[in-house]
Amino acid sequence: MIQGHGGNKQQLADRIGCGLEDIIDMSSNLNPLGPPKRIHAFIRENIHLIHALPEPDAAGMSKGFADYHGIDPGCVMAGNGTTFFIYTLPLALGAKKALILGPAYADYEDACAALNVKTCHCLTLAQNNFVPDLDQLSAEAQGADLVFICNPNNPTGALIDKQDLERLIGRHTNTCFVVDESYLPFVPDAEAFSLVTQTHQPNLVVLSSMSKIFRIPGLRTGFLSGAKTLIRKVMAHYQPWSVNALAQAVIKNIYDHPGDILPFYRQTREFIVKERRAFVHALAETEGIRLFDTPVYFVLARLDRISAPELCRRVGDDRFLIRDCANFKGLSDRFVRFSLKTHEINLALAQSIKTALAREHT
Ligand SMILES: Cc1ncc(COP(=O)(O)O)c(C=O)c1O
Repeated sequence: MIQGHGGNKQQLADRIGCGLEDIIDMSSNLNPLGPPKRIHAFIRENIHLIHALPEPDAAGMSKGFADYHGIDPGCVMAGNGTTFFIYTLPLALGAKKALILGPAYADYEDACAALNVKTCHCLTLAQNNFVPDLDQLSAEAQGADLVFICNPNNPTGALIDKQDLERLIGRHTNTCFVVDESYLPFVPDAEAFSLVTQTHQPNLVVLSSMSKIFRIPGLRTGFLSGAKTLIRKVMAHYQPWSVNALAQAVIKNIYDHPGDILPFYRQTREFIVKERRAFVHALAETEGIRLFDTPVYFVLARLDRISAPELCRRVGDDRFLIRDCANFKGLSDRFVRFSLKTHEINLALAQSIKTALAREHT
C-alpha cells in the first residue's frame, strides 16, 4: 500500500462510523474553490475522446502551457502529474546523490530511494520559521548532482525569492536543480517568483502541477519545463500515451482560454488571503498551538501539549481529516497541517481544534 500522501479518509470513516462523503478532508492541498467552472461540462461533452488514442507525447497540451508562459514548446513536457517527473528525473539525469531542501514533500526522497539514488536533507528549522538558509543549502549542494526545492514549500509554506534561487542555481553549474512550483499559482504575485521562463538555464527544471490549482488531481496532469538538453534526457524515459485523452483535452481547453486563467488565479488568491486570515485569527488566542506563516492555503502548526495523532483523533471525531506531519523528515509527531476550505468549514475546524486542545485541561 502506498502511504505518506495525506490522511486516510476510509480509515477515519470506518473509525467514527460514517460514510466517506461525510468526512471533511482538510489533509490534501487542493484549490478550495474547486476547478474552473466549465470543466465538468467540458468532460461530459468530450467523454467520446476515450474511444481513440490521444497524442502519444501530449504535444498539444504542452504547447498550450508553453504559449501561456511565452516559452518554446520544445522546452516543455507533459506528464501524468508532476509525480511522473519526480520519479523519472533521478534516473534520466543519472543522479548519484540528491539533496532535498526539507522538511518537504516525501516523494522526492521516495523516488530517489526507488531508483537507488542517495539522498541527504538540508533542513529548515521551526525556530527560524522554516526560512531556508541558502548559504547552507549552497554549501551542501556542492556534493549533489540533483537538488529538490519546493517553492513554495509543502508543508512549511516557505517561499524563496526568484533572484536568490537564480543566484544559487548559477553558482552550481554541475548540479541540476528541480524547482517544484506546484503551489506557486496560489501565491499573490506568483509570476514574480516563478522560474518557469528560465529555460536558457542549463541546470534547471521546473515542475508545474495542474492538480492543485485547477483541482483536478484525479486527471493526473503536470508539466516539466527546462532546457532542451534536459528535456531530451527525460524524454528518453517517456512512455507513449502516458497522459490520457480526457486529461489532454481538459488542459488544452484551459490554455485555449488564456484570458480566463489569471482571473481564476486572482479569485483563488483573494479567497485564500481572506480565509487564511480568518482561520489564523480564530486560533490566535488558543494556547497549545502555533501556526507558521504561509503564503498559501495550507497551514503548518506545532502542538505544545498533545501529539499530532491525538489532535487528529480528536478533530476526527468531528469528521475533520487533517494531516499528521510526523512522516515528514525534519518534523515530528508534534506537527500537523491544515488545508483550508470554505469559510464555514475553516471556522468549524478552528472551533474543533480549540475544543480538542481545551480538553487537555479538563
Ligand atoms: C509539492 C508537491 N509536488 C508534486 C506533487 C504531485 O502532484 P501531481 O502528481 O498531482 O502533479 C504533490 C502532491 O501532493 C506535491 O505536494
